[in-house]
This record gives sequence, structure tokens and C-alpha cells, in this order.
Amino acid sequence: MSKTILITGGSGLLGQHLTKMALSANYKIKWLGRTKQNTPPEVESFLWNIEKEYIDEKCFENVDYVVHLSGAGVADKPWTIQRKKEILESRTKSTALLAKYLKNNTSIQKVVAASAIGFYGLDTGENSLNENAPAGNDFLANVTDLWEKETDKITIPTLKIRIGVVLTEKGGALPKLCEPIKWCAGAALGTGQQYVSWIHIEDLCRIFLFVLENKNLVGTFNGVAPLPLTNQELTKAIAKKMKKPLFLPNVPSFVLKMILGEMAGIVLGGNKVSAEKIIQTGFHFEYDTIEKALLNLNI
Ligand SMILES: NC(=O)c1ccc[n+]([C@@H]2O[C@H](COP(=O)([O-])OP(=O)(O)OC[C@H]3O[C@@H](n4cnc5c(N)ncnc54)[C@H](OP(=O)(O)O)[C@@H]3O)[C@@H](O)[C@H]2O)c1
Repeated sequence: MSKTILITGGSGLLGQHLTKMALSANYKIKWLGRTKQNTPPEVESFLWNIEKEYIDEKCFENVDYVVHLSGAGVADKPWTIQRKKEILESRTKSTALLAKYLKNNTSIQKVVAASAIGFYGLDTGENSLNENAPAGNDFLANVTDLWEKETDKITIPTLKIRIGVVLTEKGGALPKLCEPIKWCAGAALGTGQQYVSWIHIEDLCRIFLFVLENKNLVGTFNGVAPLPLTNQELTKAIAKKMKKPLFLPNVPSFVLKMILGEMAGIVLGGNKVSAEKIIQTGFHFEYDTIEKALLNLNI
């Protein structure tokens, strides 16, 4: 019999991709979100109101697994005080609410919850980071740490995936990196030596399904490909795939700080994150090199 996955934030970049992949692997899919807009016909959708601490409990009926992806986009809007609060609370409060409703649930077998490699801090240099590395001490690291602490309160067996920079032509970082390159104005950012721990969206969604189906796996896993690149190497690889020249000097850090303010840390810093733990479980990456990943993507 096909299993049912409830996805929170299913309407987002990862949720939509996971939905398509899971439907074609014969899962039934339900979404839990703030609206029912844009729900595909094959998906049953349900509402929650995080501020009012309300979930339509019908969403949990006949559900085997939950994938929790909700959270206000980290790089979508400037980091005003209000937006920072939303980035934090959309994660901590939604997770706390889910934990509260799942407390007495005896039928759901597993929860996979999104986390982020931002946990490690904005700039951890050359150190290869496994899941035991400590939390960093900046805005995103603090958000992720508090978010994970709420996830740890879920009483059903739960996995946290510390997601890296997800590559897809449909949104997120890649289209933003491609845009200047398309106009022959591409350049590495800052020193260009900061690491980008990327993952192809398809491999990430395959990790979600893989860990759900592997009963014994719980705990924290990095969701990154095995070979992180420096920003310079990634910029070059993208330009090569797009058959565009790269001749401009790196964009200076101060310019990015002037334009992006505190958010510039996201592109000027970086982490070299290890995929070793997920590889040790037997997970096989389809896109283990950037060349394979970019070849598959429509840029
Ligand atoms: N994409 C990446 O590169 C990446 C990297 C690291 C970590 N992650 C994490 O993975 C998760 C999913 O990423 P994504 O790229 O799919 O994100 P996304 O496209 O921004 O979608 C997230 C979903 O969360 C819900 N949401 C948005 N604002 C919210 C708010 N204020 N309160 C409650 N829910 C809200 C929305 O669903 P509804 O409107 O249906 O409620 C939205 O579709 C996020 O938690 C993100 O931090 C992503």
C-alpha cells in the first residue's frame, strides 16, 4: 500500500520538488500551509495558523511520515528587525506547534525536519564540518540553533537535515548567480575563496525519501554534496556551463556590504561541510560533482 507524506511548506521550492518526486514514486501527498493556494490537484491541502496555534488535525489522518519545511525565506527580503523576527519565529513557532500536535500521535512513523548549514556560522573557512561541529554565533546560526532545539522536542523519531545551498534553475541561489554571468558581467564575490556547500535539489529530495524509509536513521545529517567548491570555482563552473566569459575582477566585499548590509555575510562567508555521514548510511549521490549537477540543470 502506498504511504502518505504530510509536507509543511509544501508550496515552497523544496516542497514542490519533493511533492513531484514523491508522487511519481507512488506516495500520497498532503500539504500543511498558511493557504491552500497553488495546491496541485493530486495533493490534499490543510491549513494551519501558527500565531493562533491551530492545526487542522484532519491533516494527520492516515499519515505515515511528516516532512517539515516551513520557514520564511532567509534571503527573500532585507533583514529589518521585523523580518528577522519572522525568519526566526516562522521556524521556531511552527516547529513547536507541530511538536505539540504530534505529542499523542501513535501512527506517524517518522519526521524529517529541515535545518540549514547556517547552523555552523557564516564563515568557518577551510575546516571540514561534520555534524558534531558546534553552532556558530551570528544571526542565522542562532536562528538555526533555536530551530533545531524546537525540533528536538518532537517525540516521534525525527531527523534533522542541515541543508546546504540547493541548486535548481527554479529558484534559490542558482538563478541569482547565473544572472550577471548571462550578461557577461559575472565575477566571484569577495575573496572568492569562501566555500559553497551545494547540493542538487534532486539529491536532496532523494535524501528526504531515503531517510524516511530507513527505519534506523535518526539524528542530524548534513544535506550537502560530497565536494564543496569555493565561490570562485563555482562561478567558473557556471560560466563554463553557460558558455560565457569571466573576465571581471572579484566584486569587492565592501560593495556587497553596502548593497546587502548584514545579509552580505551569506555570500561573503562560507562553510566546507562534510557529506560523509549520509554517505556512510549507503546513500548514493547522483550529482556528486558540480559538472554533473550543472549539466542536468537548465541554465
Ligand atoms: N532552498 C535552500 O537552498 C535551503 C537551504 C538551506 C535550508 N533550507 C530550508 O529548507 C526549508 C524549505 O526551503 P525552501 O527553499 O523550499 O523555502 P521556500 O521556497 O521559501 O518555502 C518555504 C515555505 O514555508 C512557508 N512559509 C513562508 N513564510 C512563512 C512564514 N512566515 N510562516 C510560516 N510558514 C512560512 C511557505 O509555505 P505556505 O505558504 O504553504 O505556508 C513557503 O512555501 C526552509 O526552512 C529553508 O530554511 C533551504
